[in-house]
Amino acid sequence: MKTVQPYKRIVVLTGAGISAESGIATFRDKDGLWAKYDISEVATPEAFARNPRKVLDFYNMRRRDVLGALPNAAHAALARLERTAGLDVLIVTQNVDPLHERAGTQKLIHMHGRLLSAWCTACDDKQAWDQDISLETTCRSCSAIGHMRPDIVWFGEMPYQMDTIDDALAEADLFVSIGTSGNVYPAAGFVQTARRFGAHTVELNLEPSEGTSLFHQRRHGKASEIVPAFVAELTSGEK
Ligand code: OAD
Repeated sequence: MKTVQPYKRIVVLTGAGISAESGIATFRDKDGLWAKYDISEVATPEAFARNPRKVLDFYNMRRRDVLGALPNAAHAALARLERTAGLDVLIVTQNVDPLHERAGTQKLIHMHGRLLSAWCTACDDKQAWDQDISLETTCRSCSAIGHMRPDIVWFGEMPYQMDTIDDALAEADLFVSIGTSGNVYPAAGFVQTARRFGAHTVELNLEPSEGTSLFHQRRHGKASEIVPAFVAELTSGEK
């Protein structure tokens, strides 16, 4: 059935599942990162205070993994969605990889930070970064030594740009969640916020997420297949 394009303001939340087919590890799948590493040892401010070298090594490894990674058909489809005339699309990603921007997405929030950015805790400057960070790394801005950390939101820290995200969720008429298990708040709560403000809500994931029953509509399969198909339907006006 053909209908007039029903949605104008779209918020898309993405998680590790959208990058899995680009060769980047997810967290909670059986071979995911949290099966091999303990969150409390590599992804908290306390872990960094206790054993900074271990935390830096974990993110150095992950940064190297994304240097040559390429976006897949799902990232490309979302970039096309953004270019569709008449649509206002915001992509909010929990991912710290650079694959949405490599696919051409412009309006993008990295709510959990970015691997390709480093943060100097001495001068507070954030800098584009594609090298390993060590305890001897010098800040390019203030020259302090040993104050660089990954520009990553750790457990117990506040995700970035929450005010902008909340405003967009309140105005959205469509909310789409892609490739996320729905385990980590506040992102896992976005579906409820969007629904409360009247948005239609859709889950696109390999399998039902923790919050799958909160969505009006669900499709399960590989992101590289179901995301392009969903975007094609949306942009042709089919529901
Ligand atoms: P998870 O690893 O928790 O979930 C990934 C989801 O993607 C799972 O539900 C998989 O079934 C699904 N998936 C796997 N391969 C897929 C594919 N090819 N196509 C579609 N879906 C696929 O990752 P996130 O939900 O992103 O935070 O994790 C959220 C946050 O927890 C991360 O940002 C990270 C992590 O701890 C921090 O480090 C702060």
